[in-house]
Amino acid sequence: METYVQELPVLLQLNNNSNNNNLKMNLFENFKLGQNTDLKNRIVMAPLTRCRAIENIPNELMATYYKQRASAGLIISEGTSPSPNGLGYPRIPGAFSDDQINGWKTIAEAVHSENGKIFVQLMHTGRITAKANMPTGSVTLAPSNIQAAGEMFTETGMVAHEIPRTMTLEEIETTQNEYVLSAKRLVNEAGIDGVELHAANGYLMNQFINPKSNQREDQYGGSIENRTRFVLETAKKVAIEIGSDKVGIRFSPYGAYNDMLSDYEELENTFIHLSKELAKIELAYIHIVDQRVAFGAPDFTTNIKKIIKENFEGTVISGGDVDTVEKAEAILNSGLDLVYVGRPFISNPNFVKKLQDNEELVAPDVNTFYSPGEIGYTDY
Ligand code: PHB
Repeated sequence: METYVQELPVLLQLNNNSNNNNLKMNLFENFKLGQNTDLKNRIVMAPLTRCRAIENIPNELMATYYKQRASAGLIISEGTSPSPNGLGYPRIPGAFSDDQINGWKTIAEAVHSENGKIFVQLMHTGRITAKANMPTGSVTLAPSNIQAAGEMFTETGMVAHEIPRTMTLEEIETTQNEYVLSAKRLVNEAGIDGVELHAANGYLMNQFINPKSNQREDQYGGSIENRTRFVLETAKKVAIEIGSDKVGIRFSPYGAYNDMLSDYEELENTFIHLSKELAKIELAYIHIVDQRVAFGAPDFTTNIKKIIKENFEGTVISGGDVDTVEKAEAILNSGLDLVYVGRPFISNPNFVKKLQDNEELVAPDVNTFYSPGEIGYTDY
């Protein structure tokens, strides 16, 4: 297989066609995302589940947390459910009630007061859930009624994932409309800069894409066109509502987390199809999570990041294990546009400055990743 180094001339060409005209080191310079969003640098704070949203409502503590990290070029929020049915984890925020939208308004104002930008990640957990975490009256829905292996944490311990119900066609449409309504309210009422559709890491959208969790025999399962239909239809509907340049999407090709099939025969063509279709609607970006690092996924069998970039042509974000300028610049020099950083942002709110000044990073305390309250959250 060719290496990145051998492929550099091709990637240089790609780079020439995008926003920047040469390969100079521009990690700390401005980047225009879509028509409306000016980022002050190319560092993106990755979405991180933090479980501080008591009763699923974003609060002042979360506003403080995001404000502390607003020197990122773009913050992508923690996974936020567009539906009561998508609240699989304890204390994750929603974006469907008035209180939740008001909470996001406070967060948007806090980030904007520091000249930062924030997209809210819309994460419907689908079958990755436990009844104990879900509000009364909600239902566990997925493309097929296949239980995910593994366990979910609840306030009282670990339990097997819920057995989901196969979504009806009507429920598919209702769920898509929940994404649309959340996106509309987040942008128009809360003043959030845009949304990211979470189609990675084994949650609902990924459950449709992946053949292990999608064994439908109707127009939403089987072929590449059918497995990607839920995601593409939703992306189009959301883009029509709030503008395509305010909509990004996250994929995890070759990911195995949450009981996904890591590799399958049509994988490469599935992501080529997604990239081409999303290019047609000029989505703001594709965000590729590299599960090899934080999630221990197997190695990629193709150069999938480059394949997605070539077929999408627009802004592509990726990263994985970035904690030095050199590692960040390697991502840009490979032809991608923005670099995501996850865990280091937990324990280094001023990560961008530390990177710039080559200061030592503080290690995060894993015991407080998901605990309620300010310890291990706003006290770094
Ligand atoms: C998690 O909370 O474990 C989690 C949530 C969203 C992801 C990945 C992991 O995309």
